[in-house]
Amino acid sequence: MRFPEDVPVLSDDVVTLRAHTAADVEPAYRMCQDPVMQEWTTIPVPYLREHAVGYLTEVIPVPYLREHAVGYLTEVIPAGWQANTSWAWAIEYAGEYVGTIDLRDGEGGVGEVGFAVSPEVRGNGVMTRALRLVVRYAFDVLDWKRVIWRAYAGNFASRRVAWKVGFHGLVTILGGGRSRGVRKDEWVATVGRDDELEPKGNWWTVPVLEGDGFRLRPLRESDAQRVQEACGDERTQHWLSGMPSPYSLDDAKGFIGSRSDAAASGEAVAWAIADADTDELLGNVSVFGLSGRMDKTRGEIGYWMHPEARGRKVMTSAVQLLIAYAFRPIEDGGLGRRRLLVRCADVNTASAHVAEVNGFTKVGDERSADPRRDGSYDNLLTYDLLAEDVLRG
Ligand SMILES: CC(C)(COP(=O)(O)OP(=O)(O)OC[C@H]1O[C@@H](n2cnc3c(N)ncnc32)[C@H](O)[C@@H]1OP(=O)(O)O)[C@@H](O)C(=O)NCCC(=O)NCCS
Repeated sequence: MRFPEDVPVLSDDVVTLRAHTAADVEPAYRMCQDPVMQEWTTIPVPYLREHAVGYLTEVIPVPYLREHAVGYLTEVIPAGWQANTSWAWAIEYAGEYVGTIDLRDGEGGVGEVGFAVSPEVRGNGVMTRALRLVVRYAFDVLDWKRVIWRAYAGNFASRRVAWKVGFHGLVTILGGGRSRGVRKDEWVATVGRDDELEPKGNWWTVPVLEGDGFRLRPLRESDAQRVQEACGDERTQHWLSGMPSPYSLDDAKGFIGSRSDAAASGEAVAWAIADADTDELLGNVSVFGLSGRMDKTRGEIGYWMHPEARGRKVMTSAVQLLIAYAFRPIEDGGLGRRRLLVRCADVNTASAHVAEVNGFTKVGDERSADPRRDGSYDNLLTYDLLAEDVLRG
């Protein structure tokens, strides 16, 4: 292909993808100074000539010099089009260059996509639009069968863009990413030619729900100390025997971090139960098992309370709030559940009480099914609540 003559212009009337020009060097250079951009892309130091070629695989040199932008935009990108090995477009939004998106590889009909947009326009749907245009091009013009998206684990903005365009089957490859000689965990997901370019599965948000004297809100890093205290507590450790023991601050941070992933994958929604005045964490309530293959309308409720906050009926009220939210249809902003479950050991009367006073019915009593740390087992009770039970009052 000739550059720039043969570079197709792709547009959805809001975002236009076109060949890069020399005028894009300056804004591209500025974009690469953004710390977010540097955090989520590969950065070799010192920057050598061959890194310009590596940039095709998302290597961003630091310090990112003007020459790097010049080299990438005026040498590397044209060479990719000419050799038919990579296809990079300038993203134009509101008449300005705002970023770059590229396809690469394509051997055997499978290739990768990479993208970045400048900080000023993030959150306006620009990249979602650009990605949809480019994926369509990969399937319709390059005749690819599958497009691969990769990002360092934790890059939720990139993951959400990919999710919105139908990328799915996300896996985490531990140590799969490289950054300045350091291995990082990597997320990988793909979209196939026959897939609709629309989200597959739910990405739950964690709304703030106000209760009487408390609120349910997203967990945050600053809750780690309280989470550690609550989960390291003797009673929590006794009834939730799968928890790490001793329960470290890192365990608490890991738990908090993993909840964002659980929400993004549609698997679970977890809230901090926080004091209405001080916002201090009093406990945790979550609903999980939301993406079950057999029944996508069920959810299981799990909870624990910080020892200082027990005995005040806060968990009973928190579960009551959660029930209303869980049964609300997805289109009305809820979780669209039809059936909720609570499971607890038959001798865990405090937990069973929370279920019973919230109208759950005992439907199961499994013998020797709930392990304790000393190697013994308690019977495991199952309680359920159907949306229709609540409607009936
Ligand atoms: C990733 C990136 C390209 C997204 O561009 P963008 O134009 O902001 O993308 P969009 O506006 O189309 O969509 C972003 C979505 O992510 C959401 N989002 C942003 N940060 C988020 C976060 N930390 N957690 C969850 N969602 C987040 C936005 O709210 C938006 O979703 P919404 O429209 O449903 O509200 C941009 O952040 C970027 O350039 N980052 C640096 C480079 C990079 O990471 N490239 C990808 C390497 S794999």
